[in-house]
Order: sequence, then structure tokens, then C-alpha cells
Amino acid sequence: MNATPTHGAKLVNRVLEGEKREEILHQLAGLPSLHLSWRQLSDLEMLAVGAYSPLEGFMCREDYLSVVETMRLASKVPWSLPVTLSIQPEIARKIEGRRVGLVGPDGVTYGLMQVEEVYTYDKEKEAREVYRTTDAQHPGVACLMAQEGWLAGGPIYLVNRPPSPFPEYHLDPAETRAAFAARGWKTIVGFQTRNPIHRAHEYIQKCALEIVDGLLIHPLVGETKADDIPAAIRMLSYQVLIEKYYPVERVMLAIFPAAMRYAGPREAIFHALVRKNYGCTHFIVGRDHAGVGNYYGTYEAQQIFSEFAPGELGITPLFFDHTFYCYACGNLASAKTCPHPPERHLLLSGTKVREMLRAGVIPPPEFSRPEVARILISGLRPVPMARIW
Ligand code: ADX
Repeated sequence: MNATPTHGAKLVNRVLEGEKREEILHQLAGLPSLHLSWRQLSDLEMLAVGAYSPLEGFMCREDYLSVVETMRLASKVPWSLPVTLSIQPEIARKIEGRRVGLVGPDGVTYGLMQVEEVYTYDKEKEAREVYRTTDAQHPGVACLMAQEGWLAGGPIYLVNRPPSPFPEYHLDPAETRAAFAARGWKTIVGFQTRNPIHRAHEYIQKCALEIVDGLLIHPLVGETKADDIPAAIRMLSYQVLIEKYYPVERVMLAIFPAAMRYAGPREAIFHALVRKNYGCTHFIVGRDHAGVGNYYGTYEAQQIFSEFAPGELGITPLFFDHTFYCYACGNLASAKTCPHPPERHLLLSGTKVREMLRAGVIPPPEFSRPEVARILISGLRPVPMARIW
């Protein structure tokens, strides 16, 4: 078995199967239910499969406040983002101390929760501490502000698996760990992304691959903001890229079905801890990790790691400077390795590239592999009316 430590004592498993599941399904019929959004449902699944170990449910007040204020659970174990379930004030008192069914937006009952506590919370404070801004234009803050005014905390069980957009690539932490062990990998670097993989991403992944046994490309496929490239298109581009340009025996592609928070530095810590649970020993943090707009400094998501003692997180971050193609060097580089002035560098913003792709223009091959660009262009092309009708 893979020897990477889990975060906390053990890999949490709260997915019910067999007789126990039947028994709970039977009981669920008589219980009140809470209706979850897709985002909340993805958290429920992540909790149940152990991706969020040591959490065994949605946070109660003590853990919530401790995480918001100190980036640690009440037990002092590092944890950087709240994992909470917001509920309507009218039902809060009715469900406290009770067991409730957790129902998805599609009407299916996916889980059971023992509601240990219901509590109010300070959204402004959470925004300030976790997102470092209270600006409602920030997509993570906007989500927080739109939440209900109370939170329900307590342990959960999963009784049905939510539908997976990419079942072939849907591996739970126990499964990625088993796959790493089967491949004989002892050191594994995790790569989080919500974007297509361009040359800069490829470069930092391959730099990392020079020093570890295997690479887990672990795209986030839960909820993202509307102008991010849809996961279905991205998945096609990852497959083609790996097939054509990566040593397939040293790379694994699997999905991370959680929602994006855009919490920059705090989310970088969260992303690293979660990948540790999936069995990674190393984790890539490049420029403005999990950032959005200009809310975070280029390297804030790296600097935050120094707020923890060495070894405390139990996963080694690999930091990369802003990477670009340099025409004078004739390769990808960063300010650490390239002596040439910015005029020799190819610098394209994400917005600019999305505009090019939507207009059917292939970005320079020094920016993106042409095979990737072609998939993105055909995926982003608006569907002609004739094809709809
Ligand atoms: S993220 O929101 O998932 O972090 P993205 O998919 O763009 O966004 O980035 C994935 C990883 O690659 C992050 O660690 C990010 O910091 C890093 N990264 C993205 N672009 C660059 C770049 N040009 N140079 C260095 N690191 C980068």
C-alpha cells in the first residue's frame, strides 16, 4: 500500500455499502431532509471518500471559527478553508440534534447527517479572513454572501454516489493510493488545475517530474466560474496532451470533483492537504495559485506555506516562479533562469487567450500545444442554430 501519510490519523471512509447502507436507506425514509446544491453535494462526497480527512462531516462551530481565525481545526491540525453546510434560519432549530437526509438538486437522497449543532456565523469576517477581501465581485465571496444565514455541523454518511461526469477518471483517495503503489511510485507530485494545460503548466510539471517518481494531473472539475473553460473540453485536451507529449507510464490523470473557491493562498494550502490525502508527497504551487483577478499577489499562495512549521503539513510544496517562453533562450523559463528582457518573452493573459480561442485563432505553439488549442477551439465554438434545431 502507498506509504504517504494521510492528513490526520487515518483516511476517512464514510461511504456506506451493503447491509449497513440498506439499514440506513430504510431509516432515511422517515427522516426530515435538507436540500443540497451541487456545490454542497460535491463537498459531501469529498468528505465521505476521505479527500477532506480528518474531517468526517460539515464543520461545527468550534472547528469553523478555529479554521477561519487560525487556519487550524480545534485539534490544532492545519486546515485552511471552512467546509460548511448553510441552512435556512427557519429550519435550523427544527433539525438540531436530529438525523436528516441529504438530498441533491436532482431529488436523490445521497447522504445522512447527524446534526450536532446549528449556529449563526459572520460572513464578513469569513470573507476577510479566508478570501482576504469582502468585495462581492470576488466569486468566492459572492458565493459566501449568497449562502443561507445559519450553518449545520455534524458527521455525515454517503448512501449513494453522486453522478460522475468522468467515471473513468473518478478515483477516490484509496484508489489513487492503490494505483501509485501498483506503479511502484514512492514520490508523487500533484498538479491542481482549473484550466487547460498550456506550455508553462507543462514545463513546471515536467521540472517536478525530474525529481519525483510520478505525476498526478488532478484537474478540479466541480463548480467553476462561468468564464472558466468547461471541464468536458479540458478533459479532452488533457488526454491528447498526455498521449502525445508525456511519458504515459509516469503520469496519471484523475479528477478532483470539488468546487473552486478562488481563495488564492488559503486554497493553495487546502489543495495541498487534499492531494496529500490522495497520496501525493509533493504539490506544485506556481504563480497566483487559485487566484482570480488581482485579489492576490503573484506569490502570496507560496508565502502562506511559511506560516506552518516545516513538516507540519506533511506534503512538500514545490514552488515555481512565473514561467513563460523566451524567444532568446529558445525555451520555457522564468526570471530565475532567463537573463533576457521582457520584450523577448511571450506573455499572454488568460483573457486574451480565451478571446483568441473563441475567435478560432490558434495561439503560438510556444504558448500552447497546437493539438490542445484545436480541441479548445472546437469545444468553445458556439453551436450553430441549425444544429440545435
Ligand atoms: S488554479 O486556479 O487551478 O491554480 P491554473 O489552472 O491556472 O489555476 O494553475 C494551475 C497551477 O499552475 C497553479 O499552481 C498555478 O500557480 C500554476 N501556474 C499557472 N500558470 C503559471 C505560469 N505561467 N507560471 C508558473 N506557474 C503557473
